[in-house]
Amino acid sequence: MRIAVCPGSFDPLTNGHVDIIRRGAGLFDRIIVAILVNEQKTPLFTTAERVEMVREAFAADVSVGVETFEGLLVDFAERHDACAIVRGLRAVSDFEYEFQMALMNRRLNARVETVFMMPAAEYSYISSRLVKEVVMLGGSVAGLVPPAVERRLHDKRARG
Ligand code: PNS
Repeated sequence: MRIAVCPGSFDPLTNGHVDIIRRGAGLFDRIIVAILVNEQKTPLFTTAERVEMVREAFAADVSVGVETFEGLLVDFAERHDACAIVRGLRAVSDFEYEFQMALMNRRLNARVETVFMMPAAEYSYISSRLVKEVVMLGGSVAGLVPPAVERRLHDKRARG
């Protein structure tokens, strides 16, 4: 059984994330979406909301699980018997940060390999940050996030 983790903030889940998780699910027997609980950051969505959005998007996919984590990602991976970390690479601008994280994670635990995957080109410019900005300024993100995420974003805006 080959298990991978797909870590991130997922604030919120975008169709770019969905694309990468699906690609990862095609390579591994099980993929665990690992949502970082970061007390230093103030996310738009609570941890529970971020977990629900991933659950909703992958409700039909038994090989995709979702968990939250604090502390080192490699320790989370080890606890879940994962052999790999799946990360998406959108553009060259992502590379430096991802390269540093991959090598740091390898130094911390060489048994966990990092695997980079490219999303479909149509999602290559999407980020959670831009999606939030567009919705909060009254724009549409239809087709860039799952419909349930879009609804939740509009609810957040309506509630201020
Ligand atoms: O979606 P993000 O915010 O780019 O995801 C970043 C994430 C969660 C992958 C990264 O911050 C992380 O792995 N944090 C856990 C702490 C850790 O293990 N740090 C040392 C390795 S770089």
